[in-house]
Amino acid sequence: MFMVLLGPPGSGKGTQAKLIEKQWHVAHVSTGDLLRAAIRDQTDCGMTAKQFMDRGELVPDELVIKMIEGRVGGDGCVLDGFPRNVRQAGALEGLLTARSWRLDHVVSLNVPNEELVRRLGGRRTCRECGAMYHVEFEPPRTEGACDECGGRLYQRDDDRETTIRARLEVYERETAPVRDFYSVRGLLRDIDGVGRTEEIFARIVAQVSGAQ
Ligand code: AP5
Repeated sequence: MFMVLLGPPGSGKGTQAKLIEKQWHVAHVSTGDLLRAAIRDQTDCGMTAKQFMDRGELVPDELVIKMIEGRVGGDGCVLDGFPRNVRQAGALEGLLTARSWRLDHVVSLNVPNEELVRRLGGRRTCRECGAMYHVEFEPPRTEGACDECGGRLYQRDDDRETTIRARLEVYERETAPVRDFYSVRGLLRDIDGVGRTEEIFARIVAQVSGAQ
């Protein structure tokens, strides 16, 4: 199964993708995670990407498309954070068609802006295993430490207020048109992204099962 998760920053793409990965046994491919790993490893790609990410802007298409090519595999995947503009959507379509695969589902998580700002401002991530928390909605048992592995929790550089606002603007300008791209192809499924994580996941399961 090939699925795209669309939604603004903080809408819960990463959170839901982890559940989708387990439910349908598909790989979770997150361009944001891949870029952050490249930054940690100080690769050329990572160093270029960092300048854009710190400003809340999109990383150049060529770099991201090249990165994704080797990750979209025959056993299926859930794409989180890609495509992020119409050009990337076209590239994904071309990539799948060339391998005689097709996209099965496009799920768009809809969350109001005030809630997005609250979620992103309170997000904390484990440096070791990548587990995600929220200081208010999903706090770790011990402040600053991961429940899973004890690793140190950190706040992403782009989760500061001014960068969050910039990311939301970029979403409206660049990524919202991707909804139309998939809507005309009959693939877009809108999901209410407000509520408990498990409730939202149940909505996704219902949509995907209903469409099969
Ligand atoms: P990326 O890492 O993809 O970030 P994003 O799209 O901005 O999304 P986030 O990871 O911030 O949020 P999310 O929707 O995954 O929500 P999450 O589950 O974490 O991209 C970062 C940057 O990389 C971009 O700005 C760009 O520069 C670059 N980039 C990436 N892909 C690119 C591409 N294709 N092209 C060009 N550039 C690219 O949840 C957020 C918080 O909310 C967490 O604390 C979580 O615990 C909490 N939460 C989740 N669900 C709920 C709920 N139901 N109720 C309450 N809290 C919740």
